[in-house]
Amino acid sequence: MSYTVSQLLTQDITFQPLEIKGWVRGFRSNRFIALNDGSTINNIQCVVDFENTDDATLKRITTGAAVHIKGELVESQGKGQTVEIQVTSIEILGDSDPEEYPIQPKKHTLEFLRENAHLRTRTNTFSAIMRLRSTLSFAVHKYFNDNGFYYMHTPIITASDAEGAGETFRVSSLDAKNPPLDDHGNIDYKKDFFGKETNLTVSGQLEAETFAMSLGKVYTFGPTFRAENSNTSRHLSEFWMIEPEVAFMDLAGNMDLAEDFMKSVLSYILEHNREDLEFLEQRLLDEDKTKPQAERSEMSLIDKIKFVVDNNFKRVSYTEAIDILKNSKPNKKKKFKYIIEEWGADLQSEHERFLVEKHFKCPVILFDYPADIKAFYMRLNEDGKTVRAMDILFPGIGEMVGGSQREERLDVLKEKMKALDISEEELWWYLDLRKYGTAVHSGFGLGFERLVMFATGMGNIRDVIPYPRTPQNADF
Ligand code: 4AD
Ligand code: MG
Repeated sequence: MSYTVSQLLTQDITFQPLEIKGWVRGFRSNRFIALNDGSTINNIQCVVDFENTDDATLKRITTGAAVHIKGELVESQGKGQTVEIQVTSIEILGDSDPEEYPIQPKKHTLEFLRENAHLRTRTNTFSAIMRLRSTLSFAVHKYFNDNGFYYMHTPIITASDAEGAGETFRVSSLDAKNPPLDDHGNIDYKKDFFGKETNLTVSGQLEAETFAMSLGKVYTFGPTFRAENSNTSRHLSEFWMIEPEVAFMDLAGNMDLAEDFMKSVLSYILEHNREDLEFLEQRLLDEDKTKPQAERSEMSLIDKIKFVVDNNFKRVSYTEAIDILKNSKPNKKKKFKYIIEEWGADLQSEHERFLVEKHFKCPVILFDYPADIKAFYMRLNEDGKTVRAMDILFPGIGEMVGGSQREERLDVLKEKMKALDISEEELWWYLDLRKYGTAVHSGFGLGFERLVMFATGMGNIRDVIPYPRTPQNADF
């Protein structure tokens, strides 16, 4: 029977005899293999009977080599582990030249590992991050499934720009005078999405609204694409977004849903990924030791997650936030780079970070933004100048969620689209929802990588997605 390292280390049954396959993390004294198969942060020690193992095989036990071990699980005589495998036979499945193998048993920089993204998940840090990412995605589906939502697959190729922000990657645009030609001189429609102008989706929201208005409670969870040229530690050109959409739910209900959802998925990892969290927490503590006191974090990773799970998010209107910001400075010596002078200004990330990290010191839900700085589909308030929008800001991250109650009144929506020059012909199907059985409805979008950043304590979004897509970067 074949087992994973994780099974062997967590079961108290003794498996005899057993088989295990994995990669050598380290090999010392020609006798002890630290074996990992990706199932846990912990290696299992395999004790090789070197007297009965031929030299040729011993030479091939190198860091990175894939091995198939048969043996017995026994109580360990050494320190640091309770059980170990007494090896009865070892087969080298795949050699790894120790001179060339880039992942050495030492600490590598995150930059170096990004350049070796295809191998970085063999390190403790990245295997922990990717296991957490996997558990979190499962927790997302579990939460919605447990709460009566239907999972919807929204299209990746689309003709609409859901956010109306012009940040779409083009799939195609047919230039009638110069169509792309194939080798035979015929028009190559494949290069051009069969002649229709299309782009990669920036959000599944508009399509999710159509399903909410028929199935009630739905969500999407898929890749979305943004052509904004932002080279920051929090932006990707391709990221995964979770977007629930619910009929008959207003903005207050939307806030309740978002808060409950985030608490639920975070408590799920506290329960199911403890070892990985503890490892990443220690990594951050070690990193902190190299920093001056003032820059060290006040709370450990696990305490930060628990804090979010156990405390209410602070709900603050945009207008209240502006008043706070007008009367504040990020610290005694410094002013904000961008000074908010009047109501209506868009908040920059320095303001958002100030509100959550210095002022409220907890996640904040900002709501009722000025209509002029938000997307066309948001519900206009009775004051005629604000919309029922909400952004959820997180310490260390900034904006985690963007959502709103949607404009359900046909005439108001049409007027807004006209003012923003958004074509009614293109969104005829979206307007139909307001013609036939319109109703209050709301939803939000959560950037999955930003949630993974919070859950792992990683400071750069490139380190929480398998193969980051950023401007100029699409190698792997
Ligand atoms: O605020 P955004 O643009 O909202 C929407 O797309 C709405 N249609 C969502 C909805 O209501 N269904 O994006 C939502 C979230 C942001 O709060 C942020 O967490 C994340 O998506 N996000 C990004 N994450 C990584 N890289 C980027 N370039 C991102 N842009 C947005
Ligand atoms: Mg936003």
